[in-house]
Amino acid sequence: MVMLQENPLRVGLRQERMPAPQILTIFGGTGDLTRRKIVPALFELYREGRLPSELTLVCVGRRDWSDEYLRNHLRDGVTGDDSDWENFAEGIFYSRGDIDDPAYYQSLGDRLAQLDGERGTRGNRCFYLSVGPEHFGPIARALGDAGLLADPLRSRLVIEKPFGRDLLSARQLNQELRQVCQERQIYRIDHYLGKETVQNLLVFRFANAIFEPLWNRQFIDHIQITVAETVGLEGRAGYYETAGALRDMVQNHLLQLLALTAMEAPNNLGADSIRNEKVKVLQAVHLADPEQIETCAVRGQYGAGWMRGEAVPSYRSEPGVDERSTTATYVALKLEIDNWRWQGVPFYLRTGKRLPKKVTEIAIRFREVPVAMFPSAQQLNRNLLVLRLQPNEGISLRFEVKTPGGTLRTRSVNMDFRYDTAFGQAQPESYGRLILDAMLGDQTLFTRADEVEAAWRVVTPLLENWDLPAEPATVAPYEAGTWGPIAAERLIEQDGRRWRRL
Ligand code: BG6
Repeated sequence: MVMLQENPLRVGLRQERMPAPQILTIFGGTGDLTRRKIVPALFELYREGRLPSELTLVCVGRRDWSDEYLRNHLRDGVTGDDSDWENFAEGIFYSRGDIDDPAYYQSLGDRLAQLDGERGTRGNRCFYLSVGPEHFGPIARALGDAGLLADPLRSRLVIEKPFGRDLLSARQLNQELRQVCQERQIYRIDHYLGKETVQNLLVFRFANAIFEPLWNRQFIDHIQITVAETVGLEGRAGYYETAGALRDMVQNHLLQLLALTAMEAPNNLGADSIRNEKVKVLQAVHLADPEQIETCAVRGQYGAGWMRGEAVPSYRSEPGVDERSTTATYVALKLEIDNWRWQGVPFYLRTGKRLPKKVTEIAIRFREVPVAMFPSAQQLNRNLLVLRLQPNEGISLRFEVKTPGGTLRTRSVNMDFRYDTAFGQAQPESYGRLILDAMLGDQTLFTRADEVEAAWRVVTPLLENWDLPAEPATVAPYEAGTWGPIAAERLIEQDGRRWRRL
């Protein structure tokens, strides 16, 4: 009998491997994420020959669908050859069930056992919870009660975001999960960790000898992490109104980028070595001045404006949004890290919807030269290293050169590396990488219980403050299509610095 592979020591960013035959059961199998992201990613993996032929997909839903109906529904979400799809779709099955009914899990268990016999999946199971967060705990408990998580080597649980809505609820969820399975069975998704360029951060930092000696308070003035989006609410009012940018983007994606940028070198590429270092650094992060939140945190909300020549509505007039909503669609923060490497180096984070451009980048601004000998090399031209995560993935380094001619003038130039020109291929979808890793049993790119809690702790002072009922005027407005509220400029300008113009 072949078992799901245990985490070996050196996994993570490694060579290709093939998962063991298994059944991937998706709760929320008729939902949008399944059709738009999960199944297209699986189909792509299938076409690349990276999935075992026995791989079986069971989609759970409440509706009265047949296998055939489900397969047609999923077909609409993927591109690619019909005959490939026909072959792939033979392994897709529908399971109708009420996820609140304990009896359903017994029948699901029977169905999975039957499929094991038919498809050779050998009792290996991966359960993917692509449902609302209120269902995570109950489904896990029901799976546990039905004995479906009993074997830690053969059963795994993949959990979509959001993992909790504050420190307390994340802790409770972790405890609930611990009652039915072990941490090594749990795969908490943060899709940013599946992005190729996010993984490259580790390679860039730890496979090169020239940057790491500069990667500290002696040489770095400050770091800016920007995740700017052009999209608005995209019809997700129900979720977003209860989340806002802090929960939706900062607690997970931005703090993951910060952790990967600021962590110490791991002992090796094992999942726990990397996650240990991330937890350590997250535990040292705090708001620059938690006593005076307004000096280190700004929240904003987009008003009506223009995006690429088209008029767009304000957040408060999006369908499903309260007209007095104080939900933040923009957040800027100044964080500090209390450790030897980063003491005194501010990390400025900003993220927002309806900004002029989609950009995700980490910009590392180096200190000034100790003696300014050249008049035109001013403060704002200090050396800059930019890791561009999307779009136009790449890395650029800015430094000063002499301009040609008789006078001694300097100018900033960029040394630029771009993924697409260097490798000539598109970046793979993050979901594919993450699903494959979960099926392989590699937890490196998933957040561990203590890591999620450490990240919630960072945003706790803000949640406590911002979750209080507030006057609508307390959220700084910004016009859609602009770079966020004026207050965000002040947040950084009060330190004599400014946001990068993107
Ligand atoms: C999701 C958020 O986690 O990330 C969305 O819920 C956001 O609100 C999205 O738009 C951004 O992801 P990406 O990959 O487009 O940067």
